[in-house]
Formats: sequence, structure tokens, C-alpha cells
Amino acid sequence: MTLDEAVIDNFLDFFWCRLESGLWRTIDCFSLQTSGALDLLKNSRKTLDLGCGDGCFWFLAGGGKFHPKFDFLFQATENLAEFYRGKDVFDDSLGKEIPIIKRSKVQFYRGFDIKSTLLSKADMLGVYRKLIQGDANNNEFVEAEIYDYIFSNIIYWLDDLPKIFAGIHKSLSDGGKFVFFMPVDRFLECRPFGGELFLDSSYDDFVRAIDRGRFVSDIKNVLSEEEIRAMLGAAGLKVRHCSPHLTMSTIKLWDVGMRPFFPLLSNMAKRINTHDYLEVKNTWLKDWGPLLKDLIVADRSNISGENCCFKLYICEKY
Ligand SMILES: C[S@@+](CC[C@H](N)C(=O)[O-])C[C@H]1O[C@@H](n2cnc3c(N)ncnc32)[C@H](O)[C@@H]1O
Repeated sequence: MTLDEAVIDNFLDFFWCRLESGLWRTIDCFSLQTSGALDLLKNSRKTLDLGCGDGCFWFLAGGGKFHPKFDFLFQATENLAEFYRGKDVFDDSLGKEIPIIKRSKVQFYRGFDIKSTLLSKADMLGVYRKLIQGDANNNEFVEAEIYDYIFSNIIYWLDDLPKIFAGIHKSLSDGGKFVFFMPVDRFLECRPFGGELFLDSSYDDFVRAIDRGRFVSDIKNVLSEEEIRAMLGAAGLKVRHCSPHLTMSTIKLWDVGMRPFFPLLSNMAKRINTHDYLEVKNTWLKDWGPLLKDLIVADRSNISGENCCFKLYICEKY
């Protein structure tokens, strides 16, 4: 593995009760590192994370650490009952300080997101010099600043890609970079709940409970590389790098994962006293950590153009 073990451990520790997310996010880091996108970020000054959310991704990717007794995921409490109806249970203010014991080495000049609750958490992580709230669908990030580097892992959630790409072009300096992940057309096929279960009405209630609206509402754009290249070119963005990201096997594992049990695990974890809690978590990580690391290695060694579900693009304004 070329990625720092400490970064992998960081993600697994954070996502110990949502290991499928730990898997996906660690592989994101691998792709960003091997493609050179991470080095480009470190060498840029005016950087924007478009759709930064609570900022935890870059906090963890940069080696940031919370106090071991602080579990970020289990701070979500208000909306747990709404979880199965598709509510984002993390769209909730924390109402207390986040105990950070190690700062992230990654720093962004700006972070942008639509949700003020998530931005209030991002503000405590020290990853962003300034946070901006706005709707990317209306290109509200445009004209606030001119950036050298824009990163986004939410492009496929947005409505009108040609409009967004034009906004990105306008927001970049000449030679500025735009780095983003985008699902390819087979992404929906390889999701069990987007596939046969979803199409068979006898599974309706079950699928609705565990898919939580993701299939119908979250993913707005799933496009082939040719389609994306054409849109980028029309917006004045040249593709400098495009690599396959996330195998079909990883996406299938992720699609079920531990997500359906999150409210139950969260309620259980909150009832464990602090001493036992750390012991439970560490046992869990001791047993599952090595298996997850094997999955990460398998994903990286099996990835090819034929079995990938996403692509990572590095573009340049010309
Ligand atoms: C899956 S989260 C990713 C968050 C973060 N980048 C990360 O890696 O953890 C998707 C994010 O996109 C944001 N988002 C969705 N639609 C948006 C829009 N129209 N404008 C700005 N942010 C948006 C959500 O609020 C959420 O924080």
C-alpha cells in the first residue's frame, strides 16, 4: 500500500460502525494520491472544496484526530427516527465543541455547502479558512473568489452539469485545476437495490426502508466518460487525467454495508459506558480492520476501466 497506514486507520476508526463508508472514503484518498490530485492540492493556495459538508473527509485525509472517546457519527441524535424515511441524520448542529487532539495537515482556502448545520461542524475542524453557505445548483460559489484549485465529490448530485461546469470555469484562474469524482453508467446497475430488488414490487417495503431514497433522489448524473469529456470541453475545461475509481465489488458491498442498522447501533453505543465503549470499538476494529484493509488492497489491484463504477477527473482551465 502506498497510502499512509495512519490515514487508513483514521477512516476505519471514524467509520467503525459504518465500515462501508470507511472503505469508500479510504479508496477516495488512494485515488487522489496516486493521480497526483493530492499533491496539486498541497501546492495550490486558493483552494475550494465545493460541497464540503461537515469537513470530516479532508480532516481525516489530512491526518486529523479527535479525542478517542469522541465519536462523531454518534453525535447525531435529533433525527434518528426519520432515518428510514431518508432524512440526513447528520443535518443537525452539534451544540458542543469538537475535541481535536491532532490538526489536519490539509488546509482549504474556502469550503462551500448548502447546509448550515454541516458548515457549523466544518468550522470547528480548522480545515477551511472560511466557509460559504450557498446553493451550487444556482452557481452561488461563482464570483465570490477566483480559485487555483476546485475539488468536489458532489458534482453528480447537482442538477445541470453544463451550467455547473461553466460556473467552475468562471471561478478558476488560467491553468487552474478542477478535480472531481463522477459515477460511470454502470454504477446504478451494480447496486443491488438499484437492480433486481428495486424492480420487484414484492420487495418494496424492505427496499424503501434500507435504500432511504438514495436511488431515486441522490444520484442525479451518471454519465459515460465520452459524455463528460464533451461537457467539460464545451465549458473550456481540458481533461488532464482520468482514472478508474471504485470497483463494482466495492460498490456492491457499500450499497448494503452497515447503513440499515445505523440508528440501532447508535442507540446501543450511547448506552455503553465510556470505558466499555472504547473496548467494544477496539475489539470491533481489531477483528474488522484487517479485513477492510484486504478489501482496499483488492479494490486497488482489481480496478480497471471495465469494472470501475466511478472515474476521477483532473481538469485544467484553458
Ligand atoms: C455526500 S455529502 C459529501 C460531503 C463532503 N464533501 C464529504 O466528502 O464528506 C454531499 C454534500 O453535498 C451538499 N450539497 C448537496 N446539494 C448541494 C447544493 N445544491 N449546493 C451545495 N451543496 C450541496 C450536501 O449538503 C452535503 O454536504
